[in-house]
Amino acid sequence: MITLGIETSCDETSVAILKDSNILANLISSQDFHNKYGGVVPELSSRAHIQLINPLVKEAIKISGIEYKDLDVISATAGPGLIGALLVGLSYAKGLSLSLNKTFIAVNHIEGHIFSGFLMQDKPDFPYLCLVVSGGHTLLVLVKNYNEIIKLGTTVDDAAGEAFDKVAKLLGLGYPGGPKIQDSAKSGDAEKINFPISDLKNPFNFSFSGLKTAVLRYVQKQGGVEKLNKNHIADISASFQNAVVKALVSRLELALKKFDVNSISIVGGVAANSLLKERAIELANSFNKKIVIPSLEFCGDNAAMIAYRAETLYKSGIKHELNFKPFPSLNENTFLTLEQFI
Ligand code: KG4
Ligand code: ZN
Repeated sequence: MITLGIETSCDETSVAILKDSNILANLISSQDFHNKYGGVVPELSSRAHIQLINPLVKEAIKISGIEYKDLDVISATAGPGLIGALLVGLSYAKGLSLSLNKTFIAVNHIEGHIFSGFLMQDKPDFPYLCLVVSGGHTLLVLVKNYNEIIKLGTTVDDAAGEAFDKVAKLLGLGYPGGPKIQDSAKSGDAEKINFPISDLKNPFNFSFSGLKTAVLRYVQKQGGVEKLNKNHIADISASFQNAVVKALVSRLELALKKFDVNSISIVGGVAANSLLKERAIELANSFNKKIVIPSLEFCGDNAAMIAYRAETLYKSGIKHELNFKPFPSLNENTFLTLEQFI
């Protein structure tokens, strides 16, 4: 079974080809030009996707050593994401599916991330806890199998990656914030400043906007970012990073105590964070659980995870009509709630 995957939900144009879950190609073109604007500019993102999509598909076909007619399934991210950006990949996939008369499958981007651990050699074992931490989303889910995903908690305000991006901007470190804060934190003291972590009614939920405000107040109290030297900024970065990682890992720990799972997986752009990886591995070891954190290529946005999710949907008998509409936000009913499941 040969599957083409297309991902254009944000600022990565990515095309992948999978043959029976094995990756023949996974091309990712990152639109780095957004960095100078301090964030993704939606209109520029759509235009770049339009320019990149066709050459990338051609290249993926070429390096996979296949022909268009060999494709069985054509899939693309339908949402959540930037609507104009989503439309490019989705429309391209629909057009290709129509012209080649092949099955079309629309994929939920978050589900792509949730199953991205299966692109690794060592795969998660069902049931597993999955922490999805990206620029747009932060959620903790219990994955029973390919068809049952139970939402345990989500962010009530900013996503974890968004918090990294906003605090990096505030500290004058640039964009994207995650890698910049991680870099700056290397020479800082994580215990120097005690930034608060919010307690919430649902203990599996997350909140990062209070933390961001605490950093802002701290910086203002010092007389503004101009008054801070490199060491001071390093201490703020390290203390902030420590607070985010504590918030994420504490929810995982609580879930491990409550649910009997076989493994843990951490996915999404923030899964690239080395402190998060280190603390999550310690936690998994202390509970004697397997942990799968995709490598850099697969924890950020990529089309291999979209093609993989399409494969699993296809095997469950799911395919979509060509009038499938893109959706910018995650629908409240996309995942099961704990109440629905029990
Ligand atoms: O999953 P992703 O590539 O795109 C979205 O779907 O959002 O995630 C991007 C996010 C950005 O907010 C970026 O700052 C964050 O992932 N990120 C990191 C690191 N690398 C990327 N956050 C913390 N530490 C990192 N090393
Ligand atoms: Zn993503």
